[in-house]
Amino acid sequence: MTVRERQFAIIAGSGFRDFGVEAEGRLVDTPFGAPSGPIRTLVYADHSVFLLPRHGDDLLIPPHRINYRANMQALKMLGVEAVIGLNTVGVINASLHPGQIAIPDQLLDYTWGREHSIYEGVEHIDHIDFTQPLTETLRQDLLKIADDAGVDIHDGGIYATTQGPRLETAAEVDRLERDGADFIGMTAMPEAALARELDLDYACLSLIVNYAAGRGAKPIHDDLEAATMMAKMQAMKVLRLFFEVMEE
Ligand code: HPA
Repeated sequence: MTVRERQFAIIAGSGFRDFGVEAEGRLVDTPFGAPSGPIRTLVYADHSVFLLPRHGDDLLIPPHRINYRANMQALKMLGVEAVIGLNTVGVINASLHPGQIAIPDQLLDYTWGREHSIYEGVEHIDHIDFTQPLTETLRQDLLKIADDAGVDIHDGGIYATTQGPRLETAAEVDRLERDGADFIGMTAMPEAALARELDLDYACLSLIVNYAAGRGAKPIHDDLEAATMMAKMQAMKVLRLFFEVMEE
């Protein structure tokens, strides 16, 4: 199946305030309530892609308050089949640095108190297979496009999801490293699990915007803007090509 035949959505995180979309967007109501904001349409060549702002239009919804269930359910209701979750991460893996992007292949979940399953008040519960939490075919498609475009993307790695909105302590980062984590972000879970429950393909495009707490030579916020900008430009290039060029 070609990318063009599938309905895609991008869930954009906090690095994407200026995605450049002015259209009004659709307000979708779901059994789980309202999603983070209006869902807009991006047009790439002749292909349209839905865009959902994860933290709301004005970025005021913190990671622990996002209605992840409503977000994923709304996309499902619009006929979406595959979702690319754009998120920002801090990096633990010493071979990587801020400004790069990564496509993780595993997840760890340290979040708590988030509504993380569609199975509530239903007559049927499916214990989804989550051995590989990110859709491998989608990951491979993104990697291929990045390679063709000459964008340096790190293939794989373990994304640890923390509760936020605060960043971690140095000791917490040490623990996450002992657990095997390469990057830390705040939103991939429960997004990935809900996508699987709803039978949506899901992969993350993770923008490395800082060294994890206690790891860089400088305070975390020092180079944040420059690194975000750099990673974002790369990610936009990959997305544009993915939707404009990709056909099997
Ligand atoms: N920790 C958690 N989430 C993040 C970070 C971090 O260092 N950077 C961007 N999102």
